[in-house]
Amino acid sequence: RPLLDPSPPLPALYASLGFSIFAFLAALFLVPALGPTFIRANLKGRDLLKVYSDPIPESQGLVCASIYILLLILFIPFPFSTTVASLASSGGNSDRGLTDAASASLHHEVRKLSVYLSSLLSLLMATMLGFLDDVFDIRWRHKVPIPLIASIPLLMVYYAEGGNTHVVIPLPLRRIFGVLVNLGPLYYVYMSLLSTFATNSINILAGINGSEVSQALIIALSVILNDLLYLPWPVGFRIPLHLLGNQAEVEVGGTWHAGMAYGSSELVGRHLFSLYFMLPLVGVCLGFMYHNWYPARAFPGDTLCYVTGMAFSVVGIQAHFSKTLLLFFLPQIFNFILSCPQLFGVVPCPRHRVPRFDPETNLLSPSKTLFLKPPSRLASFVLHTLATLRLTELTVHPTTGNILEATNLTILNFFLLRLGPMNEKRLVQVLICTQVAGSILAFTVRYGLAGLVYDG
Ligand code: UD1
Ligand code: MG
Repeated sequence: RPLLDPSPPLPALYASLGFSIFAFLAALFLVPALGPTFIRANLKGRDLLKVYSDPIPESQGLVCASIYILLLILFIPFPFSTTVASLASSGGNSDRGLTDAASASLHHEVRKLSVYLSSLLSLLMATMLGFLDDVFDIRWRHKVPIPLIASIPLLMVYYAEGGNTHVVIPLPLRRIFGVLVNLGPLYYVYMSLLSTFATNSINILAGINGSEVSQALIIALSVILNDLLYLPWPVGFRIPLHLLGNQAEVEVGGTWHAGMAYGSSELVGRHLFSLYFMLPLVGVCLGFMYHNWYPARAFPGDTLCYVTGMAFSVVGIQAHFSKTLLLFFLPQIFNFILSCPQLFGVVPCPRHRVPRFDPETNLLSPSKTLFLKPPSRLASFVLHTLATLRLTELTVHPTTGNILEATNLTILNFFLLRLGPMNEKRLVQVLICTQVAGSILAFTVRYGLAGLVYDG
């Protein structure tokens, strides 16, 4: 058997597709079937933007996470059967009686298996954290460190794999920094922050039917599209990809290298790994979205936000495309930066920042945060700046000039400010269009503009 098999293990990829269809069907049937069980366990919430107050089963992301992780476990034999078979044939001792090439190949497989298992561990921790958050409403400052800890297995395996911590400096800055800079431990800090960001950023862009799951779905589809560019396609498909790949800069080992998109089989392997995690995620998300779509009959809870966020950071880190991945989070980055004054306590943050619902017209308009006491100098400065940028709208006292009210600092309220009141379904459609536009921009930047700042 050659050391690195250049053709992708298609049976595993077909199995992954099959598992994804199964994931879709399982979510489609299990989510409504388990709804009453969730309500009985007091896992329920009221839809804040409706006239009725029937209890809706909450944190059904747990159903999705369970289906997803179980299927990922059942999938293990498909890509790793050669590992298992050779281990068995060598009597459990991987080195005895093997030629050098076979032994190297076996080590390679075992390394891939440890990457896979550590990823599962991080996903399980994210699920647990999300579910605990749903049940206990963990405080912000307490839940931030947990994804950091959950990412340790990932980082250890990255380290053991000889993970690269160099970054390539863009052309204009090379005079100062040189071509390559080793970020060393800082690179690990960056990667653990990535998992914290990915898990929380989806959770704070939430509150309208379908918002959380549609973000996850579009990001997963974008990652899949990006992975497909790296597979060794038959010659007929290659021509357009070749044009794209030629001017592309490909990340290898965490650094940017010039080359064609479908270069080495190592690279193909990493993107296959990413596909194995993303395909079933699309399946569960689609199945769940059917029930979470306006008017929602199931809520995702924090569990879904955390497990999907962790899945993205897992593939971004392990398949070495974390910078490309961040480009797919443009709406989340915007929402996070806009939210910072409220997240860090400069501006008061109410428990819910979802838009305000008008039962008369069925339309949503921006919700507001009230200042019971005059805002601090910093808060006034920040809010006036944001108001000048038309990111918020203020109500000021006619005589003292103190700020009395400001619209909550979220992207959803920003849409309503700029586009006017609209109904909930239209607002989630606007969010989906923004996410898709963000991904199109991401592909343009990644494959079109990267050539301008990096040499190809
Ligand atoms: C985050 C947001 C909060 C937002 C909330 C809505 C921050 C810092 N926190 O808090 O502002 O209000 O998400 O999810 O930005 N709900 C609906 N319709 C939906 C989804 C949820 O009405 O489509 C309501 C339900 O009452 C549900 C509750 O939101 O029970 C869930 O809120 P939760 O996920 O616990 O809020 P956080 O994630 O803490
Ligand atoms: Mg939430």
